[in-house]
Amino acid sequence: MSLRTPTIAAVALAVVTLPALFVAPRHVAATPHRAVTYAKDVAPILQAKCQECHQPGSIAPMSLLSYEDAKENSAQIRQKVSARLMPPWHIDKTVGIQAFKNDRSLTDAQIQSIVHWVDDGAPLGDLSDLPPARTFADPNRWQLADKLGAQPDLVIRSTPYTLAPHTQDKWYRPTVETGITEPRWVRAIEVKPVRANDRKIVHHVLAYLLQDEPEITGLASTAHDHQGNAGLFMEWAVGKTGQVFAEDAGKLMLPGSKIRWEIHMHAIGEEFKDSQVELAVYFYPKGFVPKHRTVLTMFSMARNSELDIPPNEKTITQNFYVLQAPARLENFQPHMHMRGTAMSLEAIYPDGRKEVVSAVRNFQWNWHVNYIYADSVAPLFPKGTTLAFTAWHDNTAGNPNNPDPNQWIGWGDRTVDEMAHNWIDVTYLEQAEYDSLVAVRKAKAQPVRVQPR
Ligand code: HEC
Repeated sequence: MSLRTPTIAAVALAVVTLPALFVAPRHVAATPHRAVTYAKDVAPILQAKCQECHQPGSIAPMSLLSYEDAKENSAQIRQKVSARLMPPWHIDKTVGIQAFKNDRSLTDAQIQSIVHWVDDGAPLGDLSDLPPARTFADPNRWQLADKLGAQPDLVIRSTPYTLAPHTQDKWYRPTVETGITEPRWVRAIEVKPVRANDRKIVHHVLAYLLQDEPEITGLASTAHDHQGNAGLFMEWAVGKTGQVFAEDAGKLMLPGSKIRWEIHMHAIGEEFKDSQVELAVYFYPKGFVPKHRTVLTMFSMARNSELDIPPNEKTITQNFYVLQAPARLENFQPHMHMRGTAMSLEAIYPDGRKEVVSAVRNFQWNWHVNYIYADSVAPLFPKGTTLAFTAWHDNTAGNPNNPDPNQWIGWGDRTVDEMAHNWIDVTYLEQAEYDSLVAVRKAKAQPVRVQPR
């Protein structure tokens, strides 16, 4: 199958409007309600949706394991939860696909319970209602090992780097051997700092797979060269752990391959000696060849790596890609920095019909959540579909994350510069297979949100 590189379709800035992105955060009113207690209502929510991160030794600033913890932080919990800032899940719930493999958001009812509990003075309630404490595995373990029921087959570490207590942002780019001696198909990848504590300084990690092979067809890259012919292997940031590929897809590693790391760190006032990040690879069984090769693609909204965000202004930046073959998108992962507030993806079908696929509003630059579509709804697009990406930046004083509204902002690596792209794993399909996947979904009456007529 020969796939051409998707190209920018239109240069005109046809602003696609997305009114839903500007709906103000819902106000939770103080309504009459039944008594809500910690023991009966709140503890189960915190166990299910918060404690994984909010426990000693994990990534959050405070523990939420006990009643005392929750009560002490109740005002902040109310605020973060009702603004849908916690748990970190910033997808717009009013538009687009809503079924994800890794959804950790609260339901409206759960938010109501927490709000009522705080407003009622955070009562403990009847101790006999209290669920047993949840036990957790080491928060620094390989998380996908639980899901896959196996430890990683291969772990690759970056060379150690010592970060001084006070210094500007650092980008460390070592290259290491993978040690692979035969071709292997990868079914899942996970990345993390070796020490849990180093999450405080590691902003994000890119791992490029370097290996000797012809360029992969279908690898979309209009504005960026990924410096490695197999492209990006995996990207990590706080809020993201890794990815299991669809059952019919994977990535190929070849003998002699190397990983080229790009580790973005910022200093926090203490020395971090010999900091390392590590990558876990889970292989498909030897000899198994998945039907498709997944290609992690950076869909950039900044044409030629240019962004123009004037002081005290809000901007909208768009870019368009045309699929040269039928394709399935596996995930949605916006990447912006401090001024980024929202990003959307719309599909414009060959017949001109438009549909919002996914949108994130209330984007938080310190959370790089990867929204992984459930297999039954991962969007399938016919050849010729235009993917229209839109990024919103707010460089005014009204943006609480903005360190200085009087600066002109352009594209750059530092978090005070800006970016606007989306990391998406694209699986290109043969026409016949695309047709049969669409037919299967129709037959199962699966809730396909995005489908050509
Ligand atoms: C994926 C990990 C994760 C989950 C899940 C999570 N949190 Fe957090 N939380 C964090 C981190 C990291 C921070 C600090 C950075 C930030 O505020 O974004 C934080 C910050 C907070 C804060 C603000 C604390 C401060 O000092 O500013 C509150 C309140 C909070 N979380 C409550 C919750 C509640 C309640 C839940 C569950 C309903 C929850 N979080 C789920 C990781 C998480």
